[in-house]
Amino acid sequence: MSSQSTKYSSVIIGLHWLSLILMVLVYLSMESRSLFERGSDARDLVKALHYSLALTLLLLTGFRVLARLLDKAPPIVPSPTMLAQRLTGLGHLLIYGWMLGMILLGYLVLSLEGHDFQFWGLSVPLLTGEDSELAHQLEDVHKLGATLGYYLIGGHALMALWHHYGRKDNTLYRMLPLAKFKSGE
Ligand code: HEM
Ligand code: HEM
Repeated sequence: MSSQSTKYSSVIIGLHWLSLILMVLVYLSMESRSLFERGSDARDLVKALHYSLALTLLLLTGFRVLARLLDKAPPIVPSPTMLAQRLTGLGHLLIYGWMLGMILLGYLVLSLEGHDFQFWGLSVPLLTGEDSELAHQLEDVHKLGATLGYYLIGGHALMALWHHYGRKDNTLYRMLPLAKFKSGE
């Protein structure tokens, strides 16, 4: 893709919306565990899904960061101020950092609990020895991070809608596979 392109590449667009679907499933799997009795197979299954889905998100994020490093973001028309562009870049970095932090925290919690788990059937090596007190503390941070995520992703989606309906620029169009932007719309 040239830097003059009006859209992100189809790879970046595809990975972005696939990440959204995965993120919804990561939340749904763990938030739905309270529907099932403690110790039941169904509860274990949704938790196992949470781990595998989140690690899939990690893989996808790796590809995504690579794709973003190889491909420049298309320009926003009309162009926002330099400060707004920097703040947006910072916001995107925050989302990446939050995702990686959440995944690492979850992985550490299971490791510190000595809780063997699998990635779609493949055994995942644990990172540490057991320490249940630290595991509890990090689990609390992970849960706090999960609440923060609602605001972070919600704020991100609201900003995209504000660009579209409020500022009426092409920010959202650049991330949509089919829509075309007409200047002055
Ligand atoms: C972006 C990635 C992730 C998100 C958004 C996320 C989100 C969540 C949410 C919403 C909860 C429930 C919070 C609550 O009940 O207050 C949770 C709990 C948990 N997550 Fe994650 N998580 C992610 C990644 C991971 C990963 C990679 C692992 C482990 C491999 C993991 C392990 C856990 C554990 C052990 C719990 C506590 C389970 C329990 O209470 O029984 N998470 N996570
Ligand atoms: C309905 C929900 C969402 C909407 C409407 C939305 C919209 C957008 C738009 C329009 C952009 C381009 C912004 C720009 O270039 O300035 C973007 C970029 C981005 N979005 Fe989303 N998004 C949503 C959900 C998500 C989710 C769930 C994640 C995290 C998994 C996410 C992570 C990112 C990141 C990191 C970027 C920066 C570009 C990149 O590196 O790929 N978005 N989003």
